[in-house]
Amino acid sequence: MKNYEKQIQALLSKMTPEEKIGQLQQCGPSLVGAFDVSFDELLNMMFDGRITKEEFDRLMGTAEQDFHEDDLRAGKIGSYNGIGDSATANRLQKIAVEETRLGIPLLFGYDVIHGFRTVTPIPLAESCAWEPALWEKTGRVAAKEATAAGVHLTFAPMVDVAKDARWGRVSEGAGEDVLLNGDYGAAKVKGFQGDDLAKEDAMAACLKHFAAYGAGEAGRDYNRVDLSMQRLWEEYMPSYKACIDAGARAIMPAFNDINGVPCTVNSWLLRDILREKWGFNGLVISDSNAIAECVSHGIAKDKRDAAKQALLAGMDMDMSSNSYVECLKELVESGEVPEHVLDGAAADVLRVKFELGLFDNPYQTNEERESLCLLTEEARSIAREAAVKSMVLLKNENQILPLKSDARIGIFGSLAADKGQMTGAWAIGARPEDCVSIVEACEARGVSYQYSEDGKDMLKIAASSDVLVAAVGEMKEESGEAASRADITLSREHLALVRDLLATGKPVVVVLFNGRPLAIPELAKHAPAILEAWHLGVEAGPAILEVLFGDVNPSGKLTTTFPAATGQCPMYYAHINTGRPGGKSKFTSKYLDAPVEPVYPFGYGLSYTTFAYGDLKAEKKEDAVRVSVSVSNTGERDGEEIVQCYVQDVAAKRVRPVRQLKGYEKVFLKAGETKEAVFTIPLEELSYYDWDMNKVDCEGILRIYVGGDSRAELMEEITL
Ligand code: NOJ
Repeated sequence: MKNYEKQIQALLSKMTPEEKIGQLQQCGPSLVGAFDVSFDELLNMMFDGRITKEEFDRLMGTAEQDFHEDDLRAGKIGSYNGIGDSATANRLQKIAVEETRLGIPLLFGYDVIHGFRTVTPIPLAESCAWEPALWEKTGRVAAKEATAAGVHLTFAPMVDVAKDARWGRVSEGAGEDVLLNGDYGAAKVKGFQGDDLAKEDAMAACLKHFAAYGAGEAGRDYNRVDLSMQRLWEEYMPSYKACIDAGARAIMPAFNDINGVPCTVNSWLLRDILREKWGFNGLVISDSNAIAECVSHGIAKDKRDAAKQALLAGMDMDMSSNSYVECLKELVESGEVPEHVLDGAAADVLRVKFELGLFDNPYQTNEERESLCLLTEEARSIAREAAVKSMVLLKNENQILPLKSDARIGIFGSLAADKGQMTGAWAIGARPEDCVSIVEACEARGVSYQYSEDGKDMLKIAASSDVLVAAVGEMKEESGEAASRADITLSREHLALVRDLLATGKPVVVVLFNGRPLAIPELAKHAPAILEAWHLGVEAGPAILEVLFGDVNPSGKLTTTFPAATGQCPMYYAHINTGRPGGKSKFTSKYLDAPVEPVYPFGYGLSYTTFAYGDLKAEKKEDAVRVSVSVSNTGERDGEEIVQCYVQDVAAKRVRPVRQLKGYEKVFLKAGETKEAVFTIPLEELSYYDWDMNKVDCEGILRIYVGGDSRAELMEEITL
């Protein structure tokens, strides 16, 4: 990356303290007119039912946006959040460049989480492809579209390891494993940023939420995180580090506290670790209103105190709380915040603006480019590929699937036709009309189908169908931010629908739409076939049909455990054994009223063919453990298998997980074909922290398991 330190210092030397503070201010447009309540209150009104979604949309449509242009002219705004069209972006940029004293360009940030206009599968779904090249490819599509609409920076990837299915934001990350989250995040960073950040179609990645946001107590959003340092470093930090190493130029500290200190004002996290230890010199952006919320946390006595603590701790940019613009001037004048700290924060903002090429080319797009880039055929086909690879076949009794091409199908449930639901959580640029539902896809494909949204005419439809499809699960509003659930079972209505369909005696295929693992023991027992489709984005319908009809062989594997009951949460494969592992006898670690096992384990997923493993070999070679295994396609169809390699350190200085994923490879095998998969695990990756937080090597017996899910039985022991 080119070094801009001279230009940054030259610019800083010309800036007044107010102008420096202005660079730290990120705001969004405020809504004015049409109603007298704030946007947040309006949202609350919709969520608690005081107004309908339609009324909300109508009010939003009539409201005007206030872009705070006077503040912008006065040099008091460095960045906007939430502007997603090139005309507005360029208009505001022109004010910044031509009408402010120093002409410093604006930085436009946006939540591009899983696609901008071409919505791809939610991250949890896409992670089930276990394919970094795909993650990078969809990231590139998102960057091309978002930058064409004027966006310079995305608040993504989220690499918060999430082991508790109650947390709604499970949907936004790559599941429960730290290695997968790191790989997913690093691939997204590459996709978003491309090979040169200064190019017009590259956007800076703001990885989030630093740190351990997914470890909130009881799965409740924003809740406290109380973790041993060992677990923090072993199970959470590596995914953030992987994104920094991949070159992410921005990072968002998390809303939560860690062991009592909110990340927003945590100088250990933001200075000692991020900058000193990891050498990060990019931009640190607060989460929305998070600085002011330090008062509610009970760590700051007022907004001024919060602003002081945040800046001193290393928070560069204030998203939406106005704490810096309101309080920093006085704090700098009084000497409570040294000016060099302010300079450091402003320098971080300017550095990223230089790296993005904004000083040379502040208008990186225009309406023509925008119109050419959105929802192209190429983007759609990549979204389809991602959707197909994200699905996980959970059950397929008697090989109900794939369906015969002339099968007559009866389709039930609103999710089979509700286009707006296909996007899942966090898809602000999405338009329902861009999405294709199952029913529409059937129409386009010429499938012989009948559809009933609510189960009406069920018996009649069943009588003239060969197979029934139940589209059930969660609505998109049931996962995502502020969408934790205390009960992750299927809703009563959806369960009733499936029961009624099963009672018809016809074969039933359950297609699940959801943003988190669900506790579905009853479905797992009684439904003959279950396809986990998550929220797949614009190409949901056609992609689901490709799998149901067997145009493609499903290959996705779960990156998150499916518990049998909500009360098992948090539930994850890399647990420890305890002195009394759950078993048949009374005094073991288990529940009286629920099994100790999940319904579907991490790494699990079926195919229309079968695979067999053999010839597992493991040996220590120099600084690594080398593992090889042969994988055969023993069925009659070609297919892809995600080969997974886990380790267990049998006797260590601290108890270690029963299994930990250390490698994976997606292998394509023709029917009858056998290939070898090889994993090289550096010894460094087997090390861990002892009681005193010293990093220690893995010694003694190491068990290596290889197979198609985290319950793999094929095992080899070596001694280190
Ligand atoms: C709050 C969320 O926690 C964060 O992920 C998001 O990027 C910001 N809001 C901005 O919308």
